[in-house]
Amino acid sequence: MQQQLSVKHLLGIKNISSEDIRLIFDTADNFKEVINRPIKKVPSLRDITIANVFFENSTRTRLSFELAEKRLSADVINFSSSNSSVKKGETLLDTVNNILAMKVDMVVMRHSSPGAPHFLSRHIKANIVNAGDGTHEHPTQALLDTFSIREKLGEVEGKKVVIIGDILHSRVALSNIFALQKLGAEVMVCGPNTLLPKYVRELGVKVELDVDKALQWCDVANVLRIQLERQQMKFFPSLREYSLYYGINKARLQKLDKQIVVMHPGPINRGVELSSDVADADNAIILDQVENGVAVRMAVLYLLAANK
Ligand code: CP
Repeated sequence: MQQQLSVKHLLGIKNISSEDIRLIFDTADNFKEVINRPIKKVPSLRDITIANVFFENSTRTRLSFELAEKRLSADVINFSSSNSSVKKGETLLDTVNNILAMKVDMVVMRHSSPGAPHFLSRHIKANIVNAGDGTHEHPTQALLDTFSIREKLGEVEGKKVVIIGDILHSRVALSNIFALQKLGAEVMVCGPNTLLPKYVRELGVKVELDVDKALQWCDVANVLRIQLERQQMKFFPSLREYSLYYGINKARLQKLDKQIVVMHPGPINRGVELSSDVADADNAIILDQVENGVAVRMAVLYLLAANK
């Protein structure tokens, strides 16, 4: 079995192998056991300093990385662009080089520009983890999503997964498509035509505009947020109309002849893409995803630290 990741940085799912993903899952299984013990900490990254560098808002990803780092006994510093010298005109590279001058070993970065962590990886020596780059990739979200499917359904291979909603603006969608395909799942995307990127068919996924047909087809529905903050024009007439045609609610799920697993990466727009009775139902694994995020991120950091 593979013992090491094939990459020094986790920039995206596109450039890692299925063996890398399986190694991350097996390592995350061990860390999940650790974080459910009374003493939730291991000394694995005792000599490592990690900077969480966030140029975009985050709740789950930032807290999850910080907790994962602390559970591994790493030293942690947090940077948020909103109260930093970025506001005075400092460049991305200068900002990160100043952080690295403080002897930082790893950088976890979220940035609104697609490719920002790839750019950094060509200029700095530290390991980089992409915590979301614009509308491009969010690799650890896809890893925790597929890990959660594996945990719930036993395996990912052969499962039918539909990703519903704002595919156009979603880094979660692209990373999930790559991860699911590498693990042997069938993938469908579903949403209004205006929220499906033109290139999506070239990725080898099924495309469905009718959400009821998509739900009938799938074993798992991963429902995405409508990203109004990234929409410079109107992609649908109103949130009410979007919810009517694409919102996942109890009435829609009750029409199916089976029970499906419902996922959401968060944050949820309750009453828009997902109703509260579905978000809080037993077959929704949204908080399991969050719990698994800590174990999966511990695995990623632990494995990358071995690839200096
Ligand atoms: N799922 C996710 O990336 O959430 P945050 O934006 O809160 O980190």
